[in-house]
Amino acid sequence: MRTHYCGLVDAALLEQTVVLCGWAHRRRDHGGVIFIDLRDREGLVQVVCDPEQRQTFATAESVRGEFVLKVSGLVRRRPQGTANPNLRSGEIEVLARDIEILNAAATPPFQLDEDNLSENVRLTHRVLDLRRPQMQRNLMLRYRVATAFRRFLDGQGFIDIETPMLTRSTPEGARDYLVPSRVHAGQFFALPQSPQLFKQMLMVAGFDRYYQITKCFRDEDLRADRQPEFTQVDIETSFLDENAIMAIMEDLVRAVFREALAVELPAPFPRLSHAEALARYGSDKPDLRISLELTELTDLMKTVDFKVFRAAAELADGRVAALRVPGGGALTRKEIDDYTEFVAIYGARGLAYIKVNDKSRGADGLQSPILKFLPAEVVGSILERTGAEDGDLVFFGADRARIVNDALGALRARIGHEHGAAGGYFSEGWQPLWVVDFPMFEYDEDEKRWVALHHPFTSPKDGHEGFIESDPGKCLAKAYDLALNGWEIGGGSVRIHREEVQSRVFRALAIGSEEARHKFGFLLEALKYGAPPHGGLAFGLDRIVTLMAGADSIRDVIAFPKTQRAQCLLTGAPGPADERQLRELHIRLRQAETAKS
Ligand code: AMO
Ligand code: AMP
Repeated sequence: MRTHYCGLVDAALLEQTVVLCGWAHRRRDHGGVIFIDLRDREGLVQVVCDPEQRQTFATAESVRGEFVLKVSGLVRRRPQGTANPNLRSGEIEVLARDIEILNAAATPPFQLDEDNLSENVRLTHRVLDLRRPQMQRNLMLRYRVATAFRRFLDGQGFIDIETPMLTRSTPEGARDYLVPSRVHAGQFFALPQSPQLFKQMLMVAGFDRYYQITKCFRDEDLRADRQPEFTQVDIETSFLDENAIMAIMEDLVRAVFREALAVELPAPFPRLSHAEALARYGSDKPDLRISLELTELTDLMKTVDFKVFRAAAELADGRVAALRVPGGGALTRKEIDDYTEFVAIYGARGLAYIKVNDKSRGADGLQSPILKFLPAEVVGSILERTGAEDGDLVFFGADRARIVNDALGALRARIGHEHGAAGGYFSEGWQPLWVVDFPMFEYDEDEKRWVALHHPFTSPKDGHEGFIESDPGKCLAKAYDLALNGWEIGGGSVRIHREEVQSRVFRALAIGSEEARHKFGFLLEALKYGAPPHGGLAFGLDRIVTLMAGADSIRDVIAFPKTQRAQCLLTGAPGPADERQLRELHIRLRQAETAKS
């Protein structure tokens, strides 16, 4: 049948006869000659039909967009001046000897090379959308990345073991997807949020090194970097400490970038403590392509009369910080208003600023709605600490530290992307970063209890075990996240391998011993029988491929993703279940109940 892929035919095949199969991407009539761009997963090739070949020409005339064709013909050089340097096949064309229509196609609802398709249209007609060269490239890249992960891990003695999809809840901080049991009335499986507990039990079972490229399910609010079902490269190993684990994981990431993208990442990856990441960037996954940093002002604002700043500075968990934007004096009123609305999304109640027009003129050279509230020495210290120069603008955040960090961290990223290249504070490239020394626990104001920042199976740092009871907020974890260009692409930890410590952590999380036994009894049981020290990490495959592909959303690197509203527009899932199925599953819908009463 076929001798070559369309996109791979090039000048090396000149004067040879090829047989190609593919889709008619475009058909053009040019003064009696018909051109068909024939497309397959590797790309396009131009097919030319000469009217003298009457039979073939007649077939070519009947070809429409997306018809499936088999073409045999002679590879020849394109006439001078008509080469297309953007295509591998750009120097040649195929003079058709025979064209067979393998299948006709209805007129597609959109042009495949149209740029501004709405995502709804694309996801509804996903099959056609996937034919687009960009999508073909994305999914082939995804395959190469997954293969590179496997090759490295296989080579290092990690073995691929499958873990169940129908299981009990593994807490990773999201809602579970539940599956009702038909056999056991009123009982439910949970789809795994991750294979966390199973991979730990595989370590206890003695497999030493495990990996799996597997689906995880989390019912959480969706964003550009989140899907309800997504893919982890999940890894666990025994007998290594966190530094050894991070070293292997770095080698792995470097190998994957080298193999899939021919990019050489730095060695070693830089590291930052969680506390320092928040202090300097307001984020635990800072985008280091942007060189802007936050400036601490909390201490300075404890003395001022301006109530908004002083109150925040005096809060136990308060923070006042500044973000200097070089050249930001050029921002318009409208842009500043937009940024004020933007930080409000993160809970900020305002966005004070000082525009620095001319420092030599003192207060007269500054422009700001808060100048009247601040003594001249304090303004002087602000300018000194931020290093603000004429033409700059300084933004302020004052609130609980969490709000200030979220707001100014997001503002830093947004301004960095919008103005950083022109302003000289954004540089293209790959900026991996380990964030380490995470706190074990975080206080949940709504629930009035401590919750695990990673998951409850993470080990405290050496010397921090005592804090589990005495001062949970101070207890640091052997946990590490890998950030890349502002995205969290992986996270993991060394685990608790002693039952006694695990029980203490459950207690600190207000998980009673009865509840712990009920939910995680199988893990506690396993930890009793000689659990080796172990730890690992999971990478978000979708996110890594999204970054590599330069795509805006992980939906662009997943063949059949869900929308932001957690639906599949292609298949119409989720959909209603019929009455008989529900009865078998012992389920009566609440809505039906209300309608009856
Ligand atoms: P974590 O919850 O950090 O860790 O998940 C690991 C990585 O998975 C990716 N990720 C997601 N990607 C797309 N959509 C989502 N909804 C989503 N949620 C997470 C991220 C993240 O870094 N069991 C632990 C790992 C471990 O400790 O070994 C875990 O699941 O890139
Ligand atoms: P007001 O006194 O409320 O008019 O605020 C004066 C300036 O401070 C305005 O520019 C507000 O946007 C700003 N502002 C108010 N609250 C905060 C806050 N929590 N953090 C930073 N700026 C604020």
